[in-house]
Order: sequence, then C-alpha cells, then structure tokens
Amino acid sequence: MAEPGERLDPLISERRIRARLAPLARHIDGHYRGAPLSLVVVLKGAAIFAADLMRHIRTPFAVEYIGAASYGRGTRSSGTVALAGVERLDLAGRHALVIEDILDTGRTAAVLLDALRVQQPQSVALLPLLRKPMARELDLPVPIVGFDIADKFVVGYGMDYAERYRNLRAIHCLSFTAQG
Ligand code: IMP
Ligand code: MG
Repeated sequence: MAEPGERLDPLISERRIRARLAPLARHIDGHYRGAPLSLVVVLKGAAIFAADLMRHIRTPFAVEYIGAASYGRGTRSSGTVALAGVERLDLAGRHALVIEDILDTGRTAAVLLDALRVQQPQSVALLPLLRKPMARELDLPVPIVGFDIADKFVVGYGMDYAERYRNLRAIHCLSFTAQG
C-alpha cells in the first residue's frame, strides 16, 4: 500500500471515524437549530469528511465548496495560503461553519476566517476533523473537533501526501524510511 521509502501506520480506524459523525452532527443540530447555516467545505482534504458528516445533519443548511492550499509537496505548512472560490460565496447574515480536514499551525484557518468575515456572516466557526497540538493553543473559534491527535503527519480519509493516499478508509500516520 505504501510507496517505497514510505510507511503507513493505522491511527484512527474507519469504525472510529464513523462513530464520531453522529455526535458531531448532533452538536451542529443543537447549536444552529434552523438558523440560516452555510457549511463551507474546504477542498480538497475535507471532501470525504464533509460528504459523510452532511448525511447526519438534520438542521437545514446550504453547502459551499472553496479551495485552500498551503502545502505543496512538503509536510509542514508553507505559510502562504492560496484560497479559491471565496468571492463566490454570499454569507451575509448567515452562520458559516467551515469544515476542514486538519488544523495544524492554524495559518490556513486564520487566513480563511479573515476572508469569510469580510462578508459579514452572523457567525463563523471551524469544525476540523483533526486538530494537532499547535492549533489547540490558538485563539480560534473551534467549538468541537473530530479528534485531537499528536503532532504527526497523517493521510487517508481525504487527506493526502503529494495527492496520494486520499482513498484510504482509515486515517494513517505517514513516515519516511531510509531507502536502499
Ligand atoms: P495549517 O495551515 O498549518 O493549519 O495547515 C492546514 C492544512 O495543511 C490542512 O487543511 C491540510 O490540508 C494540511 N495538513 C496539515 N497537516 C497535515 C497532515 O498531517 N496531513 C495532510 N495534510 C495536512
Ligand atoms: Mg492538503
């Protein structure tokens, strides 16, 4: 399954991921209760999570998709965040809930929240599937997360390394082994 020089170790099973979806959806239902809600799904990494989560949410919502890229081929955020599609949104007077794959340094989220706030939504909040330790220290509007994880590089369930491994059903840690 792993490419030469790479190693995958299971971290969060498909079963644990699935078991977390309904509690997250109940939290969203309880919090927004029919208020105008837009889920803002951050592509590409959150696509699979969002698709699964949406089917558990009962309160009405609109869904929007935007792009955010900061990684290139590395495993640490480059610091430069490219957003795509934010200008198409119309969040004025709505509650925006950003569905993200991972909060790591929080840089992507900070840039994104600033861009969304320009549209004067009633509220903005983030729902990341995963949160790494650095992001726990930040002052970001994150009422609930899927899972808090250690500071490891992960792939699967939508998340990639250089566009690979998004199709893994469980979340895995990716490490690099000496080759040859
Ligand atoms: P941040 O700007 O450092 O918070 O990074 C956030 C983005 O980087 C996430 O939305 C992911 O797309 C990507 N990212 C961060 N950590 C990982 C990881 O462990 N695996 C795959 N992508 C990651
Ligand atoms: Mg990515």
